[in-house]
Amino acid sequence: MLYITYIILYLIKITEMNSPFLYGTAVTGEHFTNRTEEILRLRNNFLNGRNTVIISPRRIGKTSLVKYAAELYMDNPDRDKIQFCFIDLYKARDAEDFYKIFVTSIIKSTSSKLDEWLQNVRSFLGKLVPKISLGSDPQSEFSLSFDYINSEMDFDEVFDLPEKLAEKYSLKLIICLDEFQNLEYFKESLLFQKRARAAWQHHKKTSYIIYGSKMHMMGNLFQEQSMPFYRFGDMLFLERIENKSLNNYVVNAFYRTGKNISSEITESMVNLMEAHPYYVQQMADILWNRTKTNVNEDLLNEALEIFLKQNNPFFQGIIENLTNSQLSFINALISGEKHFTSAEVLHKYKLGSSANIKRIKEALIKKNIITIAPRGIVFEEPAIRILFTRYFDNADLFKQL
Ligand SMILES: Nc1ncnc2c1ncn2[C@@H]1O[C@H](COP(=O)(O)OP(=O)(O)O)[C@@H](O)[C@H]1O
Ligand SMILES: [Mg+2]
Repeated sequence: MLYITYIILYLIKITEMNSPFLYGTAVTGEHFTNRTEEILRLRNNFLNGRNTVIISPRRIGKTSLVKYAAELYMDNPDRDKIQFCFIDLYKARDAEDFYKIFVTSIIKSTSSKLDEWLQNVRSFLGKLVPKISLGSDPQSEFSLSFDYINSEMDFDEVFDLPEKLAEKYSLKLIICLDEFQNLEYFKESLLFQKRARAAWQHHKKTSYIIYGSKMHMMGNLFQEQSMPFYRFGDMLFLERIENKSLNNYVVNAFYRTGKNISSEITESMVNLMEAHPYYVQQMADILWNRTKTNVNEDLLNEALEIFLKQNNPFFQGIIENLTNSQLSFINALISGEKHFTSAEVLHKYKLGSSANIKRIKEALIKKNIITIAPRGIVFEEPAIRILFTRYFDNADLFKQL
């Protein structure tokens, strides 16, 4: 009798289980796989106070990597007195937005006491008159807006704030600046960069991790000799995760939740998703939700159709914003062409002159559709590649999707 009860409890437990796959938010712990070398590299940089710059297309795992590396580091009982400060520049559209987010995050991360926040603003940001609004829970809600005593703002005060606080609290501070590519929108971006770099390069107790997508823009910021952030830190180009780790991750996650997937099916799924971490997790999630106990080929095919349906609205938005020659270029890419500037390809796909190709490529890179990888031009995301392939195979059928 007891035995049967156990079985029933086990079955209930399994049926109530949530999907072990997670996407669209930063992942750590059991949702995180591989990146051992990168974690080690970050750890060394934390220890040595070295700055790091991480670049990859979006959804490859930058935010997750930094978050998890920091968590693991903080778990280490021998660590120095270190404090991470996570700053998301997603909403920063100009320098003023940046200053607000930067100051608020740093003040909050170095102390949890309201009176200390106020004191720190007063002693280290003398030229700013912050308007502090407190929310219903003043200990956690706190927003700053600035009025300037003089119309001139003292930029150094803001950029040097982390170092001042690190000294005051005898801390090593690590400032993590996510979505840094948004500097692209700042009106006087170059001037802003010069000021930031001039201040940050003198910091001894503070180090910086700067990360962002838009490869062309981030590459330009950190690799061009003429740019202020040239050689700012250890450059890490984050790649997709190797197939083997993703395969193991998927098989284990199914197993842990009482379901089975063969290594063959896992491999074909991970291949189809081109080992892209976000899309492997999304596709695996759909597959997991459709599976009672065992995955088979039919379920994989069904899951792929659902996957494409979910990605289709996003794809339609992309297609609407493409010019005819950009579409033709994509058609040539899908058809396996390599020499886009050859007379034959230009003629076959009506691509105009070879000078046109450069413009088309730049536009498609800017739109996050293609990216230049060591193996050549590739689609930034597998969903987009599959949907384009179908589109060019049969545009009419495609509309029914
Ligand atoms: N190391 C990893 N292991 C497993 N999945 C990952 C890993 N890194 C990223 N992912 C998947 O990719 C998604 C996007 O990751 P994220 O860190 O937000 O990327 P980015 O910051 O580069 O845009 C996550 O929600 C998760 O599904
Ligand atoms: Mg991110």
